Formats: sequence, C-alpha cells, structure tokens
Amino acid sequence: MRKKIVAGNWKMNNGVQETEKLINEVKDSISILDQKNVRVIVAPSFVSLTSALENAKNSKIEVAAQNMHQEKNGAYTGEISAEILRSIGIKTVILGHSERRQYFGENDKLIAKKIDAALANNLEIIFCFGELLDQRKLENHLFEVGSQLKNSLFHLKAEDFKNIILAYEPVWAIGTGETATPEQAQEMHAFVRNVLANKFGEKTANSISILYGGSVKPSNAEEIFSKEDVDGGLIGGASLIAEDFVAIIKAI
Ligand code: PGA
Repeated sequence: MRKKIVAGNWKMNNGVQETEKLINEVKDSISILDQKNVRVIVAPSFVSLTSALENAKNSKIEVAAQNMHQEKNGAYTGEISAEILRSIGIKTVILGHSERRQYFGENDKLIAKKIDAALANNLEIIFCFGELLDQRKLENHLFEVGSQLKNSLFHLKAEDFKNIILAYEPVWAIGTGETATPEQAQEMHAFVRNVLANKFGEKTANSISILYGGSVKPSNAEEIFSKEDVDGGLIGGASLIAEDFVAIIKAI
C-alpha cells in the first residue's frame, strides 16, 4: 500500500525558537492520532534543522531540508551539500520547488543533478513539478509536466523510486489561495502515474506517493485527499499554523 504523506514546507519563515514551538504544538496534537500509514514531514529553514530534529525526536514528525546543492563539496559560498545534510541526520530533501525554479533559475537539468546527488547520499527526495498558469490556460499542462518528469527523472532506475516522493504543484495555485479542483488534481496525478508506469513499470508507478500542493487548507484538504491518485499534500502557508496543519493531517 502507498504511504499517505502530509508535508509542511515552511519556506523562509520562523527562527529557531518559533520552529521549536510549532513542532511541539504539532507533535502534541498528533500524538493521540493512530495513523500508522501516514507520514508527517516538516521542512524548516537550514538554520533550524538541528533543533527541529531534536524536538521531533520520538514523535511521528520527520524533518526534511528545503533544498541542497548538487556538488559534493567545494567553493560554493552559502550552499549546503547532501553530505552536510546527512551529517546532522537529515534523511529527506525537497527538490525542484517552483520557487527555486522561478527565483533561483533552477531548471530540469540542474534538478536532475541534485536528484542524483541526493540519491548518491541516500537522501529521500520530495520532487516538485507543475505547470504555469499560461501553460494551463493553453491546455499544455500535461505536456509540460510530462517533460519535467522526463527531463529530471527518466535517467533513473526503477529502484531509485523507493526514495522518491512526487509533489504536483501547479504554480498558479501556490500561495495564491487558488486551489486546483480535486478533479484537476486527480487528472494530473493519474497522468503522472501513467507516464511513470510506461517508463518504469506498473509496480513502480503504483508504489510512488504523489502529493498535491498549492493552497491546501483545512477546508479543502479532505476533498483533494479523497481522490484515488492523491496520496497526500505538500502544504505551504497552512502548515505554519499548528491548528490548520493538524487539521490537514487529520483530513488524510
Ligand atoms: P501553499 O504552498 O500551500 O502556500 O500554496 C505550497 C508549496 O509551495 O509547497
């Protein structure tokens, strides 16, 4: 059975103390839940990762990084490598987020290199992809997503997908309050699964968790999560409010 996953992407928010507070609030609220097949992941800023790991110890919460550099080490001022993440005990990293693509010039090819570096260091990846508003309007969304998958993932082996979680995030829905309809999400998730089935086989495709991201909130989470191919969510804004994030976790 595919794992259900709710992941919070905290982006460039919260200092160390606020991160600790948020983790502890979420931890206390979900400790009574019995959701064996559900994973809860949070991704605080680099600076807060160590204390986040400490505070999440012995709880259901896992801690992920939001990004990493593709090189092993070297003169890359301000960057963090997979190895450095591993050295503090991080096991999961978000790669390919649309904000990285949009504001930091990351493209499919670079993201493919980051994926390789993460896998080589035994890091699990939450790989984000999704179309822009114009591409959706022109009904090019399936084509666009198909090419993002192809460019960043098709060089991998089927077994690599044990360490990959996918997150479909239509760019027009991120932080805009506008959510894809459950039907739009299902259409895309089924398409993605089909693309992967054709390339890597049904068994692999059926075992991959595909999350939806883009303005998920307590009021729409249950309906989106009820769709067959939606295995959870990558939550931005709403994951910064403990009560809302917990409500979304409960919705799954
Ligand atoms: P949002 O962000 O929930 O605030 O739309 C989602 C994301 O960027 O992962």
